[in-house]
Amino acid sequence: MALDELRKKIRNKEAKVGVIGLGYVGLPLAVAFGEGGFSVTGIDLDKNKIALLRRGRSYVQDVPSGALKPLLKKKRFYPTDDYSALSHADAMIICVPTPLSKTKEPDISFVIDATQKIAKVLKKGALVVLESTTYPGTTEEVMRPILEGPGLRAEKDFFLAFSPERVDPGNPDYDTVSIPKVVGGVGRHSALAATALYGSVLKQVVEVSSAKTAEMVKLLENTFRSVNIGLVNEIAMMCDRLGIDIWEVIEAAKTKPFGFMPFYPGPGLGGHCLPIDPLYLSWKSRLHGFEAKMIDLAARVNEGMPLYVVKRIAHVLNLRRVPLKKSKILILGAAYKRNIDDTRESPAMDVIQHLLEEGAEVSYSDPFVPSVRLGRTTLTSKKLTREWIRKQQCVVVLTDHAAFDWRLVVKNARLILDTRNALRRFHPLKNLYFL
Ligand SMILES: NC(=O)c1ccc[n+]([C@@H]2O[C@H](COP(=O)([O-])OP(=O)(O)OC[C@H]3O[C@@H](n4cnc5c(N)ncnc54)[C@H](O)[C@@H]3O)[C@@H](O)[C@H]2O)c1
Repeated sequence: MALDELRKKIRNKEAKVGVIGLGYVGLPLAVAFGEGGFSVTGIDLDKNKIALLRRGRSYVQDVPSGALKPLLKKKRFYPTDDYSALSHADAMIICVPTPLSKTKEPDISFVIDATQKIAKVLKKGALVVLESTTYPGTTEEVMRPILEGPGLRAEKDFFLAFSPERVDPGNPDYDTVSIPKVVGGVGRHSALAATALYGSVLKQVVEVSSAKTAEMVKLLENTFRSVNIGLVNEIAMMCDRLGIDIWEVIEAAKTKPFGFMPFYPGPGLGGHCLPIDPLYLSWKSRLHGFEAKMIDLAARVNEGMPLYVVKRIAHVLNLRRVPLKKSKILILGAAYKRNIDDTRESPAMDVIQHLLEEGAEVSYSDPFVPSVRLGRTTLTSKKLTREWIRKQQCVVVLTDHAAFDWRLVVKNARLILDTRNALRRFHPLKNLYFL
């Protein structure tokens, strides 16, 4: 029976694994399977990435180049842009992007493209898993018909499952292998096949009853975060009006040992997940005549944060009779969160854009991000020196990278707006304001 054969190959580490999309998610996963003893073919359409990987050079912060070289040497990792290399694959895992379109609707064209290409090489008895975050129903309603197109039947001739990726880039405590993996198949055989695959290299697999449920699990997790961040952002703006320090409130509230979980305000949501994933869910639920009010409201609050930060900058400058126009503003941090180099959807881009539109003279410093492009303007990261800080009318902390020399900032800045509570230990200072 096909399932038994596949499970046997997985047990003996003879199964050939394909990982499609070698980005923040796919590359660590390919390495995890390679290090777990499997031979992995990694597919990416980006030829530059393939060239780098073949030279043993990683472009993903969580994957050291040192981890690639032994895998390449032992032929446990073969990066290519050619899908025909998957014709012997026993398991294929899709990790391609799932962005929003210009009209903020799900764009699953990358998933469809990868699925169509896999359909051409899919052999009997193989397993296909989607890891890209997407709306409930994508695996069953979109991928299944494409894969069954050439005459194969899911559950009988091949297996199909969804398994959400939960990796948290830059988190030193949890990685691909240690984060529990949720798995849901389009049928029982598919679930068993996917559970066997992940169970062979990851610490814990959590099986759910369907692919649709697994898709929903991921969206619940990220919607939970987005809504709670939206709530705390709203409370932060409210606290400002009421003259209460939101950070002090959260510190005290989190001493409650049950029923409260701290979320922190900030300049807005960023990354490929939180600003996007909940909108996949609200879009899908709208198709079913259900309006997801909380999701859309949280998205509106969070999207408004960069502009709110700009208003706060103008306000603190105003307290010193300095107009925003022509002010020199130094932004600390362009990445969307601390200690990583990812600027996708980063609120820093919006803050900088708004400041430029207001006529401010903006520079930024970020040890992980050498340059940023905003329309036709390219800014390059400034070295954080005493002289540069002293030239600024205002320094704005948007990302609290551990590498920043906060003492240098506090000693030399004329005025600081800290949106991350990074400078709390220096509080109170006359020139230091928090979000
Ligand atoms: N980055 C995260 O922290 C994170 C966490 C959890 C889930 N996810 C989800 O994982 C998925 C991938 O995210 P990512 O951050 O790794 O994206 P990414 O942009 O870093 O990587 C995706 C890769 O897929 C490649 N690609 C695009 N179309 C392709 C195709 N048809 N065939 C082969 N390769 C193709 C791209 O060149 C790119 O290298 C998304 O759905 C995202 O929502 C991301």
